[in-house]
This record gives sequence, C-alpha cells and structure tokens, in this order.
Amino acid sequence: MNQTLGEAAAVQTLRWLDGHLEMIDQRVLPARFEYLRYHCAAEVAEGIRSMVVRGAPAIGCAAAYGVALEALRLRQASRDRFDAGLEAGFQVLAASRPTAVNLFWALKRMRGAWESLRDRTVGEIANALLLEAHEIAAQDVRINRAMGAHGAALLADGARVLTHCNAGALATAGHGTALGVIRSAVEAGKRISVIADETRPFLQGARLTAWEMVQENIPVTLITDNMAGHLMSRGEIDAVVVGTDRVAANGDVANKIGTYMVAVLAQRHGIPFYVACPLSTIDLTIPDGAAIPIEERAAAEVTGFRDCQWAASGVRVRNPAFDVTPAELVTALITEAGVVPQPDSQNIAALFAT
Ligand code: MRU
Repeated sequence: MNQTLGEAAAVQTLRWLDGHLEMIDQRVLPARFEYLRYHCAAEVAEGIRSMVVRGAPAIGCAAAYGVALEALRLRQASRDRFDAGLEAGFQVLAASRPTAVNLFWALKRMRGAWESLRDRTVGEIANALLLEAHEIAAQDVRINRAMGAHGAALLADGARVLTHCNAGALATAGHGTALGVIRSAVEAGKRISVIADETRPFLQGARLTAWEMVQENIPVTLITDNMAGHLMSRGEIDAVVVGTDRVAANGDVANKIGTYMVAVLAQRHGIPFYVACPLSTIDLTIPDGAAIPIEERAAAEVTGFRDCQWAASGVRVRNPAFDVTPAELVTALITEAGVVPQPDSQNIAALFAT
C-alpha cells in the first residue's frame, strides 16, 4: 500500500486495518511513505529490530499489537497450543531491541491482561488482548498531549529549540513526546522554530524529525550533529528538548547516541535541557544509568548508508545506539504528571508514590 507524501499529513505511525497491524516503514522515509502489514508476533519483532518502527513509545505499542496478533492467529488452537504459542510470541518480541523500556512495559501490561483472563476461552482472550493493545495506543496519545501541555509552558514565544533524534508522532502512537511539546507550544500560539540534529548514523533527525516539521509548516533547520556547539556558542539556541528510551531511578537518561554530547554543551552554554518522558519510560528497577542496557547495532550503519560505503572495508567499528546523560545535566523531566525539575531519586520516587 503506497501513498504520496501529500497524503501523509496526519501521521499514523501504527494503524489497525482489516484485522492486521500496519506500520509506516520508517526506513524509507522521507523518500517514500508506505505502510507494511504485519500478521504475527515474529513479524512485528522483526519490524522493531529492523527499525520499520522505532522510538520508545511506538515500539511499546507495536509490541502490544504483536501480542494481540499472535493471540488472534492462535484463536482456533487448543488451549495448550494457544498458551505455548502466545508465550513464544512474548519471548520473540522481548528479544527485538534492548534499550527502550517501553517495550518491556507494554509486554508486562499485555501479560497482566492475559493472566487476568485465564478462565476465558482463547477467542475471548484474543479479543480482549486486541482491546488492550488499542487502549495502550490511545493512552499513548493522551499522555503525549498531557506532556505537551506541561512542556509548552516551559518554552518562550519565539524560542529556538534544538532536538536530537526523532521523538515525534513517528516515535509514538501520535503527537510525539519532545516534538509533542513543540507541537503543543505552536498550538498555544507560540512562534517556535526547531533545530533538528541530523542524528548519525541512522539519521532520524534528518529523515524523520525534519519531515514531520515540514509537513506541518513548523519552521525547522537541519544541522549535522557536530554543529550544535557552534550554534549554542553564537546564542542561536534557547532550549533543548529530547525524548528518552529509559530513565533510571536516579534520573539518568538514556536516549539516542549523541544526546549526552548535546547535554554537556547545553550546560556549558547555560541552555535548559529538557527531557520529555512518559512515566512508562521510567524504570525504577534500574538504579542508575550505568545499568541501562545499551544496544550495539551493525557496523554497516557507521561505515556507510544504504548502498554507499564510505569507510575502509575491514575497519573496526563501534555503534552504540544510545548513550546516558547523567541526571545532573537534566534541567527537568516533562512527564504527563507534571514537570520534575532537577530529577533525582527522591522526586522520581515521588511521582509514583500516589
Ligand atoms: O533508535 P531509535 O530511533 O528507536 O531511538 C529513538 C530515540 O532515541 C528517541 O529519542 C526515544 O525513543 C524517545 S521517542 C519518543
């Protein structure tokens, strides 16, 4: 199913159509806008691993739909085959990518729903799991809107806002986290302009963030990652807003590789560094950033892009996909429950106390 860019105005990263999950193929944006169709958990896991869908909340939503698809696929099976097949579906989805905790959060929630339905028929369980996946996706948009409202208040009219990677509608079920804050500020009448880091090596900033902003006529300027310091030193950036894949109990923030560099620069230049962070991205089981699993991806992502290889064959490569920004560099977390200035163990624990 192909669509032209002009038809892509309302970005629906994931959609349920004709009994199947469809996801925008984010690997080929912005050159092509097309949906791929998914029929079972293993296919969805591969879609997550290969980055058809990416961004922490979107990965969580995709995983929830992966469980629902697997349950629906097995709805005619015996109880034993259903249980074993669904369990295998959970395992394959959990192994798709390691860093974004939203994946594991969504799987835990789907497992909880499954366990609460043990006395029902497999058909009833499958239907209920689909409803749960729909609710996870719908809730994600509501949460992003709430974060947007809280975060928009932090941005002054006329602010020039740097962001890294893509934490937009494409990274969520809609509206976005970091870009959701920007969208909400624009909706509130503020004149915001965006500076998008290109985000080597997967180019989420150049390919996805710039595309989302251009679609909505929100002023956006694309820079390569190594230009951020220069612009900050010239007074051309007023605030940084990024998303996150996992926040540890002490407030350390894992996000796309290069985020730490931006945070250090922001501190050097006295620029506020905000992290848009749904509560589902906070992992209280991880004491600090050192314990967050960091995905290492293929060398080919660094030695070239698509069909073009620019580095010498055989060169040794490192490709950590995420880094950790220490909590002390974070001006505030923007959550759906409100803004948490200077996050630390105590104020993060307080978020979950009620
Ligand atoms: O490797 P990706 O593209 O999945 O990484 C995405 C990010 O790092 C985002 O900033 C993060 O998931 C927050 S998305 C709302």
